[in-house]
Amino acid sequence: MSEHSYKADFPVFEKYPGLVYLDNSATSQKPRQVIDAVVQYYREENANPLRGLYELAVKATDTYENARIAVRDFIGAASEHEIVFTRNASESLNLIAYSWGRANIREGDEILVTISEHHSNFLPWQVLAKEKGARLKFLKCTGTGEYTPDALKKALTPRTRLFCAAQISNVFGRLNPIKTFAEICHDNGTLIVCDGAQSVPHIPVNVRELGVDFLAFSGHKMLAPMGTGVLYGREELLENMPPFLYGGEMIEYVTLCGATFAELPHKFEAGTVNAGGAAGLHAAIDYISAIGFEEIEKRENALTAKLMNGMKDMPHVHVIGSDDPAEHHGIVTFTVDDVHPHDIAAILDESGIAVRAGHHCAQPLHKFLNLQSTVRASAAFYNDENDIDKFIECLETIRKRMGYNE
Ligand code: ALA
Repeated sequence: MSEHSYKADFPVFEKYPGLVYLDNSATSQKPRQVIDAVVQYYREENANPLRGLYELAVKATDTYENARIAVRDFIGAASEHEIVFTRNASESLNLIAYSWGRANIREGDEILVTISEHHSNFLPWQVLAKEKGARLKFLKCTGTGEYTPDALKKALTPRTRLFCAAQISNVFGRLNPIKTFAEICHDNGTLIVCDGAQSVPHIPVNVRELGVDFLAFSGHKMLAPMGTGVLYGREELLENMPPFLYGGEMIEYVTLCGATFAELPHKFEAGTVNAGGAAGLHAAIDYISAIGFEEIEKRENALTAKLMNGMKDMPHVHVIGSDDPAEHHGIVTFTVDDVHPHDIAAILDESGIAVRAGHHCAQPLHKFLNLQSTVRASAAFYNDENDIDKFIECLETIRKRMGYNE
């Protein structure tokens, strides 16, 4: 792993020099470049975008729309019309369910969801299915979190309208073969919704190469401010979908008895938009692009391998999913015999180590795996080997600290 310390770019580590931040799957820390871009927007460019005709409002509009173009290029979309700004991946997925789902799902239709989905890619479909009298079906994985193309083929029926899958699971860290899944789905006349919340920050994602119909992700997991999210949708699909929220700026013309709606993507962006957040998201994309995914993946894979190698010799520690670090993409979820995950997280916190404990918004998966809760350490490229050493040192002491001899 290169010696370069990316931590110097992240002000949080100046304030807390001893912090070992291993909760990147929940949200990433923010580099100075992103924070500065947001501050600059509010100091020098702030006005209500897409409305005013004066110079400052035009500047705000440019900042906002340039961020959209940056997102388009970052994920390889064909047009900026296919990029809708939302608050987060959850809102993006809800938008599909409310807009596309309510217009297209009929009684007796089927929606197929993987058993390891985050609640965000699960609850919108559960509610939609109940409302429409449709059937929600689950694709089950192997113990290591694998979904095979064959299993998907078998689960699809002529009534399956939608298949919903994360590209990288927020519990297993496993990468799903989304391109193959998209081909299988399309052969069956099924649309595919991909949750990219855990993949877009960590690996190159190109929507046209993947062939997905929709992709949702959050800015806050990829160095950008909270309250920034993206929905990518194929233009033809978005074009035919009704608006999700109604109000200012999403209209073309309004009379007392009706309205026509704005062109894509504005018909999905009612009300004053988050231009300051978009400025931060743009800066995050520039920052990530300057480092490059080759370097990001190399560092994250090396950190994951070090993490898992350190855990390998602890007989009471059990990693969820594959034994191969290359299958984890920075995400290592585990249990320790006899110790509650909340106690593990609290003990790690005493040493300045931040991890997540609980069900990670994936309760159906935990039930399927017969687990109540787990601990998750999730690394990002700005972590370093010292972080992993400290984590392993502390993990080794946990059972003793809870009163067990070995
Ligand atoms: N989706 C986030 C996580 O997995 C919050 O922790």
